[in-house]
Order: sequence, then C-alpha cells, then structure tokens
Amino acid sequence: MSFLVALGSGDPDPWVEQFRALLPDHQIVKLGDSYDPAGVEFAMTWYHPPGSLAVYPHLKAVFSMGAGVDHLFRDPNLPDVPMARVVDPDLTNRMSEYVVLHALSVMRQTRRYRDQQNQKLWLDDDWQPAASDVRVGVMGMGVLGSDAAHKLQLIGFDVAGWSRSKKTLDGIETFAGEAELSAFLARTDILVVLLPLTDDTRGIINAKLLKSLAHDGRVPAPSLINAGRGNLQIETDILACLDDGTLHEVVLDVFQIEPLPQNSPLWTHPRVTVTPHNASVSDPMAVARAIAAQVRRVEQGEALLNTVSRARGY
Ligand code: NAP
Ligand code: GLV
Repeated sequence: MSFLVALGSGDPDPWVEQFRALLPDHQIVKLGDSYDPAGVEFAMTWYHPPGSLAVYPHLKAVFSMGAGVDHLFRDPNLPDVPMARVVDPDLTNRMSEYVVLHALSVMRQTRRYRDQQNQKLWLDDDWQPAASDVRVGVMGMGVLGSDAAHKLQLIGFDVAGWSRSKKTLDGIETFAGEAELSAFLARTDILVVLLPLTDDTRGIINAKLLKSLAHDGRVPAPSLINAGRGNLQIETDILACLDDGTLHEVVLDVFQIEPLPQNSPLWTHPRVTVTPHNASVSDPMAVARAIAAQVRRVEQGEALLNTVSRARGY
C-alpha cells in the first residue's frame, strides 16, 4: 500500500522523508514517481494539480497539508473519499504568535516609532492605550481563531469573536452569523481575520465591512490583520480605506494573488505590513506526525478526525 505526497508547489522531499520514518509499512511516493496507482490508499495534498487524485481506485482518504482546504475544492475531479485537514498544536501556536505579535505591534505603534527612530525624533506627546482599552474582534472562531482569541485575552485585550455558529467562551464576547455581524464589527478596533475561504466568505473583507468597524474615537481608526486567505479580501477596497482614513494600519499575510505581484501598491504603502503567507507554516515534523496518526486511525477502523465538509466548504 502507498501513501502519496501530492504537492503542487514546494519541496516534497522533507515530507517523503518524514512519512518514510513514520509509516515504514507504506510505500511513500510523490507525484511524478513511477508506482502502481491501484496501491495508493492515502494522499496528502497542497494545491495538487486538479484531476491528479482521480486516478487512484483504492484511495481511502485525502489529507490537506495545512489547516486550509480551499485548495482541495479547486479540483472539479476531487475523489469522493473522506478528507481531513491539519489540526495540530504546532500550527495553532504559530498562528497565535503571529496574531499576538501584530495586534501588539499595531496597538504599541511600532511602525511609527521605527519611523521616528529613523529620523532621530524624540517626541514627548504620545499616549499609549492599555490593551484592555483596545477591542480586538476575531472573525473565524475555529481552531486557530479561538486559540488566538484566548491568547489575546491573556495579554489583556478586550476580545470578541464571530463565527457561523454561536460559541460560549469564558470572558470573550461571541457573535454568530449574518444577524450579529454588524454588532461585532461596531465594537472592533483591531479586526483579525481567520476565516476559511468558501463561497460564503469570498470577498467578505470589503469597503462596506471595513466602514462598519468601530469609529468611536477609542483608537485613531481601526486596523486589520488578515492571516486567513487572500480572496477573503478586496485589496483595492483596503487601499482606499487606508487612504480615506477608514483604516489606520493593515497587516496581511495572504493575498488575492500569491506571490504578491511586484506592482501591487500594498508592497510600498506606509501603513501596510506584508508577510509572505507564512503566519503559520506546516512544519513537516509536526504535521506529518499528525497525518500519520490519522492513517493509523483509519487502518484501525476508527473515524478520521478533523474532517472537511464538502457542503460547508471547510
Ligand atoms: P476552522 O477550525 O475550520 O475554523 C473556521 C472558523 O470560521 C469557524 O469558527 C467557522 O464557524 C468560521 N466560519 C466559516 N464560515 C463562516 C461564515 N460564513 N460566517 C461566519 N463564520 C464562518 O479553521 P482553522 O483551523 O481555524 O483555520 C482557519 C483558516 O486559517 C484556514 O481555513 C486557512 O485559510 C487559514 N490559515 C492560514 C494560515 C497562514 O499561514 N496564513 C495557516 C493556517 C490556516 P463555525 O465555528 O461556526 O464552524
Ligand atoms: C496555510 O495557509 C494553511 O492553510 O495551513
């Protein structure tokens, strides 16, 4: 029996090496190798070429290499087998590091002090808010969003979360669905986006939504941190909102087109931070371990964990 590493981008070899160590009773193969398609029972994918998973008659499960699964649904010939995504403390912690780092950086104005330092400028006129005065709203209160929300709360931020279904979390105000979106946005100074990309969420970070964030004078203007997916956002709207004062600062790890094109004004905007989709990378050591444990579950007749719903798209 074989385990297929099906990467559309990136180096498959570190993954092959990990899976060989973790699943020694499986033949570990990668796209382009020569192997018997009938032997392939499991596949791990990241942006596999559409159609490339349709040729394995005995495939039992497909694993996303990351937490996101929108790359799976690009494939109109996705095999009709159970699919699972990565849920692992390593991935979760990395994302929370990113969110806490940038929420603190926005609040403590590190961008402004870097500029002042470059000019050797010592100003005595500044005021620093306490974290408890800054309202962070996390859109997407799943595995990553709820951990980030919890860690932001430990720092002292006034945290709320928005998701499809209602959550009950100690000390975190929760909002759910379309009906409660406006109330959530109206109490948000820093918006953190950790939604999956689905038909319902595509383009959700647009001018209308950004203008609905809190504009009640608690902070100069609200800020945005998106580490979910690039196609959640309309980048021309974000730029317009920065320029008309609707937004103060923007931190983006994900973009409508990746890599971010050289001519994107986001690269050089003075109040935009660009990171290259690495808020939380899938570390082969940690993630292969989590996927190998899932393979063992299937082999022992247990149900897959962290399954993906085709109907919901995440
Ligand atoms: P998850 O556990 O599936 O959580 C998704 C959350 O979004 C859930 O709370 C869900 O609501 C909510 N949601 C989905 N559709 C919604 C809608 N239409 N309206 C309101 N809420 C909605 O996913 P996760 O593990 O936290 O990961 C989230 C995303 O992060 C991934 O899909 C991926 O795109 C992104 N990501 C990015 C990086 C990076 O490096 N930049 C790394 C990893 C992941 P319910 O709770 O009600 O279902
Ligand atoms: C990364 O973007 C992931 O979805 O894990």
